[in-house]
Amino acid sequence: MEKTIMGKEIKVKEKIAAGKTEKTNDFWAFKDEPFPNEKQLILFDNVQFIYELALAQLELKSLGVEFEVTNGLREFELLEEPKDIEYLRRRLAYFKLINGEYTDYFYIVKKNRTRSVNQYLTHWIYPYKGKFHPQMIRALLNIIGLREEDTVLDPFIGSGTTAVESQLLGINCVGVDISPLCVLQSKVKTESIEVFSEILKWRDEILKKVGVNLFNPDDKALDKTIESIGNEKVRNFYLMAKLVAISDNTRRKKDFAKAFRKNLNLMILSVKDYIDVVEELNLKLGKVDVKVGDSRNLPLEDNSVDGIITSPPYSIALDYVSNDAHALEALGYDLKELREKFIGVRGKGRERIDLYNEDMKRSLEEMYRVLKPEKYAVIIIGNATYQGKEIKTVEFIIDYAQKIGFRLVKNIDKIIFGLYNVMQKENILIFKKEI
Ligand SMILES: C[S@@+](CC[C@H](N)C(=O)[O-])C[C@H]1O[C@@H](n2cnc3c(N)ncnc32)[C@H](O)[C@@H]1O
Repeated sequence: MEKTIMGKEIKVKEKIAAGKTEKTNDFWAFKDEPFPNEKQLILFDNVQFIYELALAQLELKSLGVEFEVTNGLREFELLEEPKDIEYLRRRLAYFKLINGEYTDYFYIVKKNRTRSVNQYLTHWIYPYKGKFHPQMIRALLNIIGLREEDTVLDPFIGSGTTAVESQLLGINCVGVDISPLCVLQSKVKTESIEVFSEILKWRDEILKKVGVNLFNPDDKALDKTIESIGNEKVRNFYLMAKLVAISDNTRRKKDFAKAFRKNLNLMILSVKDYIDVVEELNLKLGKVDVKVGDSRNLPLEDNSVDGIITSPPYSIALDYVSNDAHALEALGYDLKELREKFIGVRGKGRERIDLYNEDMKRSLEEMYRVLKPEKYAVIIIGNATYQGKEIKTVEFIIDYAQKIGFRLVKNIDKIIFGLYNVMQKENILIFKKEI
C-alpha cells in the first residue's frame, strides 16, 4: 500500500521506520476538553494578550462571522449560524473549537517535537532569532482575506514562517531573503515532505560519517557525503541538519556528533508529522517559491501578488550577519560581502540609521509596486533603542508608506519577548494599496 504526498510516493515500511514514534509534546494550552455549548467559539488557552484578542476578532470579521465576545473573554457567542462552518473550522487560527468541533489548527499544533508551543511541525528547524509567531501569521493570512491559490509575498522571509503557514492553508507563497541561510531554512521546512522516502534512504549512510574520526575534527567525510547527494531537496535537508548541529555546538557547547544524531532524528520525525497531518486533515498544500533576492529590487511583476506579510530587519536591533556567522561561514559565504547587501547592519551611528531608512524606502516602494490594487500589506516592525535613544522606525514606515499610496487601516501594538534591552513592543501595521 502506498500513499502519495505532492506527487511523491511514501512507502508504508519507511513511514513506520521514521515514526518509531516518540510522542509529540502535549501542552496545557492545547488540551482536549468536553465541550457542550454548540453555539460558541473557544479561544486556544495560550491566547493571553490584548493584541491576540484583537487579531482573533479581526479574523472572525474577515471570515464573515457574526459574533459577540462573552463576559469571560475566552468564549465568543455565534450570533447566527455561519454560512460555511466547515471552512471556518479549517481556517481559524486563534480558536480551538467552533460549534463543538475542533479546528484543524488544534490538530496541527499538537504535532510538536519541541518544548515551545509554537514550534510545531518543521517550524523549529534551526534556532533563528526573530521568528514570527506562526499562529499570528495564520490569523493574518485570514485577516487580509487570502484564499486557496492566492499568492502571498514575504520579501524578508527569514526562517520561513510565512512559507510554512501559507503552505498549510493552501495559499501560494513567494519568499525572498538576502541570506542564503534563510532561503535554505525555508526550503527545508516546506520541501522535505516531497522527498521523505529519499531522505530515509540516505540516513544510515550519513550517520556512518558523523564523528567517525575523533582525532581529526576537520574530517570532511560528512561534507563529502552530503555534497554527493544528487537530489537538491535531500541534500538541503542534510545540510540543514549539519547547520543545526553546528549551531548547538558553537552556541550551546554541545558535542557535534551527538547533536547531529539527535537533531536529525527530530527533523525526520517532524517531516513525518507534517506528512501525517496533511493526510489526516486532507490538506491541499500551497506552492512555495523561496529564493535569494533583495527586497529593494524584487524579482516580481507589477501588481502580481494578492497580499504581503513581512517583518523587515529592525533597524539596529539584531545583527543578522554576526548572529548566524558560524552557519553562513559553514556554507562558504564571505561575511564582509554579505554584510554590504543586508539592510540594517551597514554603517555606524547616525549613518546606519540613514542607510536603513533609505533601504526601507526602496523596499516599501517595491512592495507597493508588486501588490495588486485594493490588496493588503502587513508590516510588523518596532522602534529599537540605540545608544539610549528610541529610533522612530514605526512612524517613519507609516509616513513613507502613506506618501507612496498605502493607506494605514490598522495599527496594533504587540508585546515582544527576548529583546528587552532594545525593544519592548512592536506594531502590526496593516496597509491597503489604494490607487
Ligand atoms: C526580522 S527578520 C524576518 C524574520 C521572519 N519574519 C521569520 O519569521 O523568521 C528580517 C530578515 O530580513 C533579511 N534581510 C536583510 N536585508 C535584506 C534585503 N536587502 N533583502 C531581503 N531580505 C533582507 C534578513 O536576512 C532577515 O532574515
